[in-house]
Amino acid sequence: MAHNIVWHQTTISKEDRQSLNKHKSGILWFTGLSASGKSTLANELEKRLYDRGLRTYLLDGDNIRHGINKDLGFSPEDRTENIRRIGEVAKLFVDAGIIVLTAFISPYKEDRNLARSLVNDGEFIEIYVKCSLEECEKRDPKGLYKKAKTGEIPQFTGISSPYEEPDHPELIVETDKQSLEQSVEQVIQYLVKKGIIQQ
Ligand code: ADX
Repeated sequence: MAHNIVWHQTTISKEDRQSLNKHKSGILWFTGLSASGKSTLANELEKRLYDRGLRTYLLDGDNIRHGINKDLGFSPEDRTENIRRIGEVAKLFVDAGIIVLTAFISPYKEDRNLARSLVNDGEFIEIYVKCSLEECEKRDPKGLYKKAKTGEIPQFTGISSPYEEPDHPELIVETDKQSLEQSVEQVIQYLVKKGIIQQ
């Protein structure tokens, strides 16, 4: 805990930055199993938002673990710390007036709820990227499920480490039942309905 440190209020506020950008900011928090389609969906969605002239940024598990979180592994404690840091970084992006998309397994409810608690009501949109374990294992784009099953990779989510499904996510996207285009459209319509972006 930091001692003798006082929060400094900046002259330019989040609201100022949002009005310059002409849209609200918030976190689109994608959660789901490895290979469920989080990165694919977040990527495509970011492209669509960018094409509409919106200010966005995508934080992706595999990339973040090469940089700011390269000291972390996959033990429960490290995953919690991974998500805590992402939550704090995402909060800064919200303050910067940006729509930030995060694509992390984020397997623990408590960790996702902590990230949610860092921002205002309505600014955290939890999107459960739902896909059966069987389908994820079939996709296995990086061959990790195969390695997890032989024990070569320990503590692998869905195999030897738990995934806690969200109880009340803002959205559920079923990537083994709907097309990428349908999923993207589903999220966009939600953002419009909530007044985060314009139709
Ligand atoms: S999280 O659980 O801490 O949220 P994160 O999304 O950052 O995970 O990283 C998941 C990615 O790391 C997976 O897509 C996969 O490529 C890779 N990975 C390597 N080892 C594991 C493991 N034991 N469990 C899950 N993913 C792993």
